[in-house]
Amino acid sequence: MRLGMNEDIKEILYSKSQIKEVSKQIGKKLTADYLDKKPLVICVLKGAVLFMADIIREIDTYAEIDFMDVSSYGDGTVSSGEVKILKDLDVPVEGREILIIEDIIDTGKTLQCLVDLLKHRKAKTVKICTLLDKPERRVEGVVPDYVGFQVPNEFVVGYGLDYQGMYRNLPYVGILKPEIYENN
Ligand code: XMP
Ligand code: MG
Repeated sequence: MRLGMNEDIKEILYSKSQIKEVSKQIGKKLTADYLDKKPLVICVLKGAVLFMADIIREIDTYAEIDFMDVSSYGDGTVSSGEVKILKDLDVPVEGREILIIEDIIDTGKTLQCLVDLLKHRKAKTVKICTLLDKPERRVEGVVPDYVGFQVPNEFVVGYGLDYQGMYRNLPYVGILKPEIYENN
């Protein structure tokens, strides 16, 4: 009998209810920090979609949302530290208070580029809110302002995070069994 995607998960790290709870707590801080600032909340596609949907419903102040899709330049194994814009914002950022929503910060290269780009475009402030943080792997000096959970140095999937495009629709964050990616 096939058990579905759950079979491929070694361990569940954060359940749907834990993620909802942490989103509520972060939402309270964001509501206080962004009161009267009409932030532009940017979702980094595709991984941050689920967390973004949770977070924006917990912010009780006027806020606009937009989406951006970026990918690292390079040969696929080594990131050059530059990002290619696959989908740009619809809204100008000049003078705006920006809140970036990410799924996970690993080396920090992607976010460093994004922050630099938004500052270059004259955003007033740029802050980062991430569901997961893997600080062990950091090579850039990116420090997120709002963090859901710090994760160990394992490959995690679910709640927006993927392996080869799959598992984004798992309603929790879990560690992928190594045999899944070792056999590929
Ligand atoms: P950097 O290294 O630029 O990369 O901070 C962040 C991006 O790397 C991906 N990433 C992961 N994706 N499970 C995933 O599904 C992981 O454990 C993981 N670690 C890094 C992710 O796309 C993120 O945006
Ligand atoms: Mg991502």
